[in-house]
Amino acid sequence: MIGPLNHVGVAVPDIDKAIAFYRDVLGATDITEPKDLPPQGVTYAFVNLPSGQVELIQPYGEKSPIIKFLERNPKGGQHHICFEVDDIREASIKMAERGMRVLNEPRIGAHGTLVVFLHPGDAGGVLIELMESHKEDH
Ligand code: CO
Repeated sequence: MIGPLNHVGVAVPDIDKAIAFYRDVLGATDITEPKDLPPQGVTYAFVNLPSGQVELIQPYGEKSPIIKFLERNPKGGQHHICFEVDDIREASIKMAERGMRVLNEPRIGAHGTLVVFLHPGDAGGVLIELMESHKEDH
């Protein structure tokens, strides 16, 4: 049911430093400007690569869901992986039927399409984001 691997989410304490690392040390040439996404409590930037993206996320606001993660991983770390699906509502229902804890109602993610997260305790310790693919007709 899952489609392409869209991105790997990396939580960082300082997004400007993280961007400088990906640009100056790893040599990435296509990195987006940081943008705030208040409903999700993150500031994000994408490192665009031919095969997909790295999504850098820094906490935004005091209720950011990644604050605890950064308390446990002060230098930052790999936070989630994101797969595309055709239909997020159908995917959510299927995942719940298969015993997965779906952590939220579909909401708009950093790519402007609907996303849900699946509990890492049901997924081999990996926080999984499902993201509805961009549709041609939108
Ligand atoms: Co993501």
